[in-house]
Amino acid sequence: MANFFPRWSNFMPLKLAICAGAIAFGIALTIAVYGYGIPHAQPVGYQPGQPIPYSHEIHVNQLGMDCRYCHSFVEHGAHANVPSANVCFNCHGPNKVKSDSPLLAPLYDAMAIDQETGQSTGMEPKTLEWVRVHKIADYAYFNHSAHVNRGVSCQSCHGEVDEMKKVYQAEDLTMGWCLDCHRSPEKHLRPMEEVFNLDYDAEEWLAQNEIVDSEGLVGEKGQRLTSQEEFGKFLKVHWDVQPKESCATCHR
Ligand code: HEC
Ligand code: HEC
Ligand code: HEC
Ligand code: HEC
Ligand code: HEC
Repeated sequence: MANFFPRWSNFMPLKLAICAGAIAFGIALTIAVYGYGIPHAQPVGYQPGQPIPYSHEIHVNQLGMDCRYCHSFVEHGAHANVPSANVCFNCHGPNKVKSDSPLLAPLYDAMAIDQETGQSTGMEPKTLEWVRVHKIADYAYFNHSAHVNRGVSCQSCHGEVDEMKKVYQAEDLTMGWCLDCHRSPEKHLRPMEEVFNLDYDAEEWLAQNEIVDSEGLVGEKGQRLTSQEEFGKFLKVHWDVQPKESCATCHR
């Protein structure tokens, strides 16, 4: 009787095993590279130490300062800026607010001003080295002005900064998180003048400002809008907000 299986098939199990091993190795490598090898944003809750214990709770909540007083580029450019020491000096300079506070020593140091005498120390002024909190991987592109000028608030991405005594990362900043909102931005859209107001509440706002859907964009014609859901959908159509999902939007 002829040999039913050709001779080479004796090696079949071995070849299969090598093959399966190679595939498993490939998958493991892919996971390793994408999961660990590629840099990612820090996890939720990341809260590095800062050179000065600067508190948004004091300056925004208690003093009522606008984000743009310090983060002046946020409406105009891709990157928001962190203020330089002389912005703080508007209030904390010699003989001004808390100018003798030991917490402000690094500020005086950066400005090269002697905190006791208020005179120049003769040293070179230097930049205050604030530690970056929010940072997505370098291969992804983000743009602040594209968001804040389309009714997306700082709050949607940075949380309740106005209540933070020390800034932490409130959202995970992963690609899935970006895409979640790009698919349904209506959950987040608010009137342009409320983008910097972190106390904004859609229902309260709508109770005070009568917004009527006169064209029937989201429901019945002439209906008064009362919830974030209705208002967000309304603004999306009204402003023609259409966040893109193609890879080249964020990977260029
Ligand atoms: C008086 C100046 C001042 C004002 C006003 C201010 N900030 Fe800041 N902000 C800072 C400084 C200084 C830092 C850097 C130190 C830190 O992270 O606490 C910072 C950091 C941040 C960061 C983290 C930046 C990073 O490294 O990732 C966010 C987000 C932020 N601010 C949002 C806001 C928002 C939103 C408002 C308005 C509601 C606001 N800030 C108002 C001074 C200010
Ligand atoms: C518009 C004025 C103003 C600006 C600008 C300002 N601050 Fe203040 N800051 C204040 C006031 C008012 C207080 C509260 C003082 C008090 O508790 O009596 C304060 C308190 C502080 C305190 C607490 C001091 C202590 O000893 O309790 C720190 C630290 C501080 N600010 C840092 C900063 C830094 C850093 C900047 C710049 C990024 C800055 N401030 C910008 C007005 C300002
Ligand atoms: C749609 C989400 C989103 C909104 C809205 C948003 N940010 Fe950001 N912010 C980010 C992301 C993502 C980063 C990290 C960017 C990077 O790594 O390039 C960031 C970084 C920052 C930084 C650090 C400097 C920088 O640009 O990398 C500051 C300061 C900041 N944001 C302030 C604000 C303020 C103030 C507002 C509101 C006026 C705001 N952001 C609105 C997502 C947002
Ligand atoms: C809370 C909602 C929200 C989140 C979160 C968000 N986006 Fe957006 N994004 C928008 C909206 C709304 C627009 C404006 C779309 C328009 O103009 O029609 C936009 C626009 C953009 C644009 C401009 C695209 C263009 O048309 O040129 C870029 C780039 C972008 N987003 C990147 C990101 C990245 C990267 C992240 C995550 C780190 C992110 N976005 C997170 C809502 C969001
Ligand atoms: C709205 C913005 C946005 C769009 C659209 C987008 N990405 Fe991303 N992508 C990101 C951000 C932001 C990161 C980095 C997240 C971080 O820093 O942790 C990322 C990370 C990645 C990574 C690294 C692995 C990972 O999952 O973190 C790959 C691969 C990737 N993107 C591929 C794609 C492809 C393919 C597309 C098109 C189908 C696409 N992206 C569309 C924002 C986007």
